Amino acid sequence: MPHDKYDPFKPRAFVQTAGAALPELDRWRQITDEEVAIVAEMTARNELSGGTPVVRAFEDRWRDWIGSRYALTVMNGTSALYSAYFGLGVGPGDEVICPVNTWICTIAPALLLGARPVFCDVDPDSLMIDPKDARAKITDRTRCICAVHLWGNVCDMDALLRIGEETGIPVIEDCSHAHGARYRGRMCGGMGKAGCWSLQGSKAVSAGEGGVLTTDDTDLFERACLVGQVNRIAGIDLVSTRYAEHQPLGLGMKFRAHPLGIGIAAAQLDKLPELNHRRREFIESVEAGLSPIPGLRPVKVYEGVERGGFYGFPVIHEPGVMGVPTEAYVAALNARGLQATLSPYPNLHDLPLFAKGFDIFTRNRGPVCASEGYRGYRQGDFPNAELAQRRTLFLPRLSDPIPEAAAIILDTLRWVARASRP
Ligand SMILES: Cc1ncc(COP(=O)(O)O)c(C=O)c1O
Repeated sequence: MPHDKYDPFKPRAFVQTAGAALPELDRWRQITDEEVAIVAEMTARNELSGGTPVVRAFEDRWRDWIGSRYALTVMNGTSALYSAYFGLGVGPGDEVICPVNTWICTIAPALLLGARPVFCDVDPDSLMIDPKDARAKITDRTRCICAVHLWGNVCDMDALLRIGEETGIPVIEDCSHAHGARYRGRMCGGMGKAGCWSLQGSKAVSAGEGGVLTTDDTDLFERACLVGQVNRIAGIDLVSTRYAEHQPLGLGMKFRAHPLGIGIAAAQLDKLPELNHRRREFIESVEAGLSPIPGLRPVKVYEGVERGGFYGFPVIHEPGVMGVPTEAYVAALNARGLQATLSPYPNLHDLPLFAKGFDIFTRNRGPVCASEGYRGYRQGDFPNAELAQRRTLFLPRLSDPIPEAAAIILDTLRWVARASRP
């Protein structure tokens, strides 16, 4: 039986499948009266465009929360990353290193700025970027490394920041899955040269569509304003005079966030501590109960990490130990009413765009064009990411679980493991 395809865009409340034997496990409603009230108030005030008081207050709050010098709202996580790459001066001829398993939007903005994506392998147990392989991929063209705190887990930031210090190559953090996560007491997004968040509808802090960029670097911030904040530059308190002659139009591109979305995100940010607490409690109680089930174990969490956001709930499945192929196990869980899925994100080197390359700018131009020396990728290039892809399964990530939810899920995992063995 094929498994239900995991949809990363769908809020992952537990939904019963046909013939499901399980009750509804999650009581969470992402949007409640607070968001509705804010939207009504802002609309009544016609606070609908530009750097409005709500937008500015949100940026100030995000900046203080992360502990960065600047925070800038944008229309989505992709444009936050675009602004960060542009802010760093990423452009044609440069290379940007990122893990081969992430959402494509982590790297697409660098590609569209004319830089060549260079993938590195992941740690097969944490699923995070492998710092050793990132270091091995550095060339004299490397302009930055993008670390992604996938699924609410956190990268080995000590190792990555050490690479940054030793090589001078900036590390940026894609925190789209990890709102409120910390590493040794520091906020994710506040450790690298820049932090980027998606506030898309299924994220832990949602604007419907939105994004945030933070940085301590004045030039990066001002360049981010220049590239995406047309006609809002004067409303953003540029600190230096470096780009003053380009105010207020900048480069004429517009990535500005919709104020209503930011109003919604402000209400969501109030609820984040509670949301993270509930998700953490649920995930940790399921993880703690996995050890008696042969062939299932939690993902590795590095020392000093406090997970947050929890965009997904991956666990590692060892088919050889359980005696059941991962795909068959997931299908059997689905048949029993548990919405487990296989790994939702393709390894990027498997996509034709990166495996073969693509003539992005037409006429044989662009960073992944064979005529510009792009060689592509093949199976076997990233053994750990390929292994992780085969053996990671995702469990429902509940936000306000009924009290018996973890026990029901563990019982189902155990029962199906036993029943599926040939
Ligand atoms: C890791 C990661 N980076 C970037 C993005 C892009 O964010 P957005 O969809 O808001 O553009 C996403 C979106 O899901 C993501 O998961």
